[in-house]
Amino acid sequence: MAPTTAISSDPGSASSSGIRTAIVPAAGLGTRFLPTTKAVPKELLPVVDTPGIEYVAGEAAEAGAKRLVIVVSPGKDAVARYFEPQPELEETLEQRGKTELLEKVRRAHGLLDVETAIQEEALGLGHAVSCAEPNLTPEDEAVAVLLPDDLVLPTGVLGRMARARARYGGTVLCAFDIPKEEISPYGVFDVADTDDPDVKKVNGMVEKPAPEDAPSTFAAAGRYLLDRAVFDALKRITPGAGGELQLTDAVALLIAEGHPVHVVVHRGGRHDLGNPGGFLRAAVDFALQHPEYGPDLREWLRGRVEE
Ligand code: UTP
Repeated sequence: MAPTTAISSDPGSASSSGIRTAIVPAAGLGTRFLPTTKAVPKELLPVVDTPGIEYVAGEAAEAGAKRLVIVVSPGKDAVARYFEPQPELEETLEQRGKTELLEKVRRAHGLLDVETAIQEEALGLGHAVSCAEPNLTPEDEAVAVLLPDDLVLPTGVLGRMARARARYGGTVLCAFDIPKEEISPYGVFDVADTDDPDVKKVNGMVEKPAPEDAPSTFAAAGRYLLDRAVFDALKRITPGAGGELQLTDAVALLIAEGHPVHVVVHRGGRHDLGNPGGFLRAAVDFALQHPEYGPDLREWLRGRVEE
């Protein structure tokens, strides 16, 4: 995979994207991070010093979203609290002249308006997204969904997805082009070309295929621009893999009913924060680019790897 860039965005990012509301599902159990997730939501684990969910909120704001609906479980109110102002802390930092820290502390709640929806039980990603429907307004003809486990770098793909929706209508998903031999862990799109090599029409999707059965090398990533019609489809699907309501089953139903679905191919990097191995890679990648920690870490890593 291409090297990642922690902070830059591609020039295609649009603030006039038409995306008003973004949904971030964060109500999962986080079992791969047990025992930590007994008490700390995985979405708040720091990639260097900033939780992954703040990067994802920043990406949504950069794409023009004004509102973020975070779907949380009843025990995960710390995720919502993270986006609330901390007046006492801010005052202390101000008095001590800690301007840089003050900016960091204020960033999360300054990005966009954050509200929460509750998913009482972890019944799947599709179910989590449907829990945010009451938060939508009639103007939300489409919503962006960003999985906080998935850092897509550089940012900007949501802007390109919005432009694809403006052209083709319907629902637009995000794909990575993955070498065929590495495709098995992913959901893989069955696609047809358009006149843009990085926009494909989706005919279907196969979950976790063997390389020889994969219909393409385009694997699903955690960014969705969903037409409002998906909420109706979510009411009509039945539990799929693992007894969960799968978002991809709702999208498959829309495709079967003739609703246009496209993917935008993101040619860049990605970090999967959903498991400790992927999370550590992201932390090291971001730390290596950090002006304060990067140089020492690089030197230490070199020595450590040679040992
Ligand atoms: P994952 O399956 O990667 O997260 O879901 P998880 O279930 O929390 O983690 P593990 O597998 O037990 O380790 C992708 C995203 O969807 C959210 C998760 O919080 C994560 O951000 N999700 C998943 C929900 O909000 N509700 C669900 O019922 C399932």
